[in-house]
Amino acid sequence: MSSKIAPAKGKLGVMVVGLGAVSTTMIAGVEAVRRGLAKPIGSLTQMGTIRLGKRTDGSSPLIKDFVPLADLKDIVFTGWDIFEDNVYEAAAHAAVLDKDLLKELKPYLETIKPLPAVFDQYYVKRLNGTHVKKGKNKRDLANQVIEDIRAFKKTVDRVVIIWAGSTEIFLEPTAVHQSLEAFEKGLDNSDIGIAPSQIYAYAALSEGVPFANGAPNLTVDAPALIELSKKNSAPICGKDFKTGQTFMKTVLAPAFKARMLGVKGWFSTNILGNRDGEVLDEPQSFKTKEESKLGSLEYIFQPELYPDLYKNIYHKIRINYYPPRGDDKEAWDNIDIFGWLGYPMQIKVDFLCRDSILAAPIALDLVLFLDLAKRTPDLASIGIQEWLSFYLKSPQTAEGLYPEHDLFIQSMKLKNTLRHIMGQDLITHLGLEYYD
Ligand SMILES: NC(=O)c1ccc[n+]([C@@H]2O[C@H](COP(=O)([O-])OP(=O)(O)OC[C@H]3O[C@@H](n4cnc5c(N)ncnc54)[C@H](O)[C@@H]3O)[C@@H](O)[C@H]2O)c1
Repeated sequence: MSSKIAPAKGKLGVMVVGLGAVSTTMIAGVEAVRRGLAKPIGSLTQMGTIRLGKRTDGSSPLIKDFVPLADLKDIVFTGWDIFEDNVYEAAAHAAVLDKDLLKELKPYLETIKPLPAVFDQYYVKRLNGTHVKKGKNKRDLANQVIEDIRAFKKTVDRVVIIWAGSTEIFLEPTAVHQSLEAFEKGLDNSDIGIAPSQIYAYAALSEGVPFANGAPNLTVDAPALIELSKKNSAPICGKDFKTGQTFMKTVLAPAFKARMLGVKGWFSTNILGNRDGEVLDEPQSFKTKEESKLGSLEYIFQPELYPDLYKNIYHKIRINYYPPRGDDKEAWDNIDIFGWLGYPMQIKVDFLCRDSILAAPIALDLVLFLDLAKRTPDLASIGIQEWLSFYLKSPQTAEGLYPEHDLFIQSMKLKNTLRHIMGQDLITHLGLEYYD
């Protein structure tokens, strides 16, 4: 299949919705790496290798040498935000990266200025934006975003859009989300079920541009947007960067299950003090995040198959806004497990992490892999890129298919997808041939 993948020629334009902590950390990081000031730690596309053939073949190229990915030096960034701060100012405000590093990158970062955003405080109660588009209805706003994309397209060769904006209130799909036709009528009537993130997503997919969602908002997780994604061969994937606590959960839970250890309860709490924490302190935005974080255990443990081990697990998630910590989140987990004959044990995890340091390489990888998917006809035409579940708290799947949350299954799926599109044998880990 590899001969069909279009090469990564020319400039890749990356349009970021929301130039906050995660996006500015990604943009500044890419520039630091381009200048040789730092290494792209945490990025599978930049640092990962992939084994090809037998264990005895000794062939493990870098992923970026194996599949035709855009080179970091060919990435051009732009974005939208509800505040006018350029990327230098926004990064300084987010206070994730050292002042010295930011100063060194300042001349570049200052050149990236946000376009006015599509925003409505109804969907993010804690923010009040001033740098916003005005339009007579949601259709008009979508058309303005389409104009932004078209103007940017004139300066680059390909475009990918990623939502790294704030978490919107919890929305469930309604009639307006059931078909493209209904959705487009909803844009005309400014239907309340259509959130700003969906206006950007609609604009992107209408233009055939891949769209990733780093937040837990509904966004492309609805039949209308899936239809548009397929129609225009514009790849989409799941939602909500899998960075800290859920990343740990989807490593530990599969381990317990693999060893048939039972779980009674899993209490997860977080303190964080960045703007994301402030937004998530509001109950309706928290609900969106909570739903996204809750899903993983249920799917991994399959209580219907293992009622003795995993029925009625008490799973609780808390997020508290605690300004002194800034972006340095602390995520605690108390896990009550049980073993042989039902004897109880406890595991405590205390992850002192840095939210945006974990999220930035994920955002970068999603952008690069979605661009690859767009250039790979067999992937572009299917819409949902389930192989990118690896990066997301809420994977997206074909209708009726349960999502895979286990990080190692996700990792294998991702790498086998890359082998598949490059016409290489898949790796099953059977390995009997070594004993012939
Ligand atoms: N950092 C992580 O580990 C992590 C993990 C999973 C998900 N996320 C999600 O990623 C998103 C970004 O996180 P962050 O820490 O960068 O938050 P942040 O608050 O620093 O940045 C969000 C930015 O989006 C802007 N924004 C809000 N609504 C917008 C709109 N309609 N159009 C354009 N811009 C808009 C805000 O002004 C802000 O600058 C959040 O939704 C967060 O929940 C982050």
